[in-house]
Amino acid sequence: MRRIAIAVAASSMVLSLAGCGVLNATGGSGDASPTKGNDVTVGLLLPETANTRYGKFDHPIIKDKVAELTRKQGKVEYANANADAAKQAGQMQQMIDDHVDVILLDAVDAHAIAGQVKKAKDAGIPVIAYDRLAEGPIDAYISFDNELVGEVQGRTLLEGLGANVDSSDKIVMMNGSPTDPNAKQFKAGALSELNGKVKIAAKFDTKDWKPENAEANMTQAINSIGKDNIAGVYSANDGMAGGIIKALKAAGVTTLPPITGQDAELDAVQRIVSGEQYMSVYKSYPDEAQAAAEMAVAKVQGKDIQFDALTRDKVDSPTTKGIPAQLVQVSALTKSTIKDTVVADGIYKVSDICTAKYQAACDALGLK
Ligand code: GAL
Repeated sequence: MRRIAIAVAASSMVLSLAGCGVLNATGGSGDASPTKGNDVTVGLLLPETANTRYGKFDHPIIKDKVAELTRKQGKVEYANANADAAKQAGQMQQMIDDHVDVILLDAVDAHAIAGQVKKAKDAGIPVIAYDRLAEGPIDAYISFDNELVGEVQGRTLLEGLGANVDSSDKIVMMNGSPTDPNAKQFKAGALSELNGKVKIAAKFDTKDWKPENAEANMTQAINSIGKDNIAGVYSANDGMAGGIIKALKAAGVTTLPPITGQDAELDAVQRIVSGEQYMSVYKSYPDEAQAAAEMAVAKVQGKDIQFDALTRDKVDSPTTKGIPAQLVQVSALTKSTIKDTVVADGIYKVSDICTAKYQAACDALGLK
């Protein structure tokens, strides 16, 4: 009897909590501007197109999730800046002028965009930093644990170098764009693993994350270090790993050293199968993108309890302290984890990866 009473009390508590959210959502909380129902418009600003994740995963997943959460009444206004910070500022201005209800912002330049974040805030539009921690008065942040991304890259690179790795072994470090705060975290995480274990013989910050810039930097590194003296390459992402491999091949390197990456891009997964790239980092785009859509819709609809549950972490940006955040976990993608990561999560089918060119290598890995 007592147990039933407790159960009833507990469930009516849940009900009344949910009731609060609903009340708030219909504007009954006495807010000056009533919060919205399902007719929400989410502004989505993504940074570039060289990396396939944005067009292939982030945008469509967020769009579908917003539709699902709003009984198909909500919509996403999308713009991609093509790695151009000024262009992104213009796109954000357009969204402010269009009075979107909330903005998900993946900044090209996290510092330069701060003025626009402030403008949106002044216009009453909440801004949620997506994937990269934009400066200025943002309401929340959702990303992966980016320091962990770097640690996983560094650790796995050491594994690829083998048990006899020596602190005089020469590594090239190809970091990401200096305007992307994630790049700094990837670098710090990687260095925490690599420092003292190998020699960083050359390092670069790669403008705009562009593969062709990484290729040019790598050519420069090969010229100064010598093509046969490079034990491994830390590449912060897969796109750049592609450029680095081109440079090594162009210099006549036939046995490629271990090269890292990030993003689980399809051609990188294929390079991992064939042994040209040692690893990538698998980040579950559905986890990040769906949580972002949930945060955006909860924010607009005034569902504070849901919003708080989605943002239990706290982070600081150079301008703002204690930002509510969610940091999603990541894992290493190597030959032995392809099945348990991208295939298990339905990111790629085995048939996407194991095309005719890779069939033999896939067979050898037992990838079916
Ligand atoms: C980072 C992001 C990575 C990758 C990279 C290059 O900010 O976290 O997933 O997209 O930019 O564009």
